[in-house]
Amino acid sequence: MVSTIGISWPEPVVSVHALSQTGITTVPDRYVKPANQRPVMRTNPFDDELDIPVVDLSDLWSTDHDPSRRIETLRRVGNACREWGFFQAVNHGVSHALLGCVRESWREFFGLPAEEKRRFANSPATYEGYGSRLGVDKGAVLDWSDYFFLHHTPSSLMNPSKWPSQPPRIRELIGEYGEEVRKLCERLMETLSESLGLEPKYLMKAFGGEDKVGACLRTNFYPKCPQPDLTLGLSSHSDPGGITVLLPDDNVTGLQVRHLDRWVTVKPIPNAFIVNIGDQIQIISNGIYKSVEHRVIVNSVKDRVSLAFFYNPRSDIPIEPAKDLLTEDEPALYRPVKFDEYRLLIRQKGPSGKHQVESLLANI
Ligand code: OGA
Ligand code: NI
Repeated sequence: MVSTIGISWPEPVVSVHALSQTGITTVPDRYVKPANQRPVMRTNPFDDELDIPVVDLSDLWSTDHDPSRRIETLRRVGNACREWGFFQAVNHGVSHALLGCVRESWREFFGLPAEEKRRFANSPATYEGYGSRLGVDKGAVLDWSDYFFLHHTPSSLMNPSKWPSQPPRIRELIGEYGEEVRKLCERLMETLSESLGLEPKYLMKAFGGEDKVGACLRTNFYPKCPQPDLTLGLSSHSDPGGITVLLPDDNVTGLQVRHLDRWVTVKPIPNAFIVNIGDQIQIISNGIYKSVEHRVIVNSVKDRVSLAFFYNPRSDIPIEPAKDLLTEDEPALYRPVKFDEYRLLIRQKGPSGKHQVESLLANI
């Protein structure tokens, strides 16, 4: 039996966008991070050169390419998932026009009057709808962002009446975008299986099959912030699910990825997706692929919008290290866990580094 979280937030919810629009010149205490979590604005120019790997997916999926190119690309994907847990995907097959339209529609949604957005206010029981906090711990330091969370798959959870109804085409665009990105994730699942040396359907089977997986979208809105060096748009976390496909803003950076104890700011390539490994793939791959910590910094000049599409396993089956990857020398590192139970803890605690997956380490 999975327990549930109550249906109300521990404190009245304040929209960060509304707060930002009041013209305040200091960040309220509720958003001020402890000194060791605050972003350090880099001054070393060499730091700017480091970035996550880029993978051209047409090298994997095009039938008229030389097979050695496909093998080389699988190797690049494998290296990216082992060393960074992140890569940027270009030539991913999703229409660039659709990316632009769906992002613009979401920007318009967040620009609507507060009363219109509040009609979709969410609760911590399901998180579906418009919200301004992750986690229900009373008195927690909050992140500088608002978001909208919705389900695409499985069909039993998809409920377009809970999606925004304004601007006029947004529902249709969300549906179309979800369809396209879901297909992309199905292909990525094959790619990741193969790059781990498993048969192409391995991960999909471990996730419970195409029609049982979960796919949801969290569109994040990071308002301008008067003191960006004191807070974060999204605190450091690893994504709890399987794969995340992120469509970043096209004109402002913010995502930082932890790499060798540094925070690397991702410089998005226009129309590329940022793909990252979540905790469930770290578990199934027995730690070969890393679900890496990341966070979002904000700025005082521009609002930022990003669409995070989460592709997750079926929620009621145990997820555990793939038997085919285990040997006597490399035994299972994690104990089995159902995604339902796993996610519940995150929904209580909010973003908190990598504590969650580490708590499953078999020997601890
Ligand atoms: C997330 C996330 C990054 C971003 O939503 O889990 O990491 O750039 N988003 O908004
Ligand atoms: Ni994330």
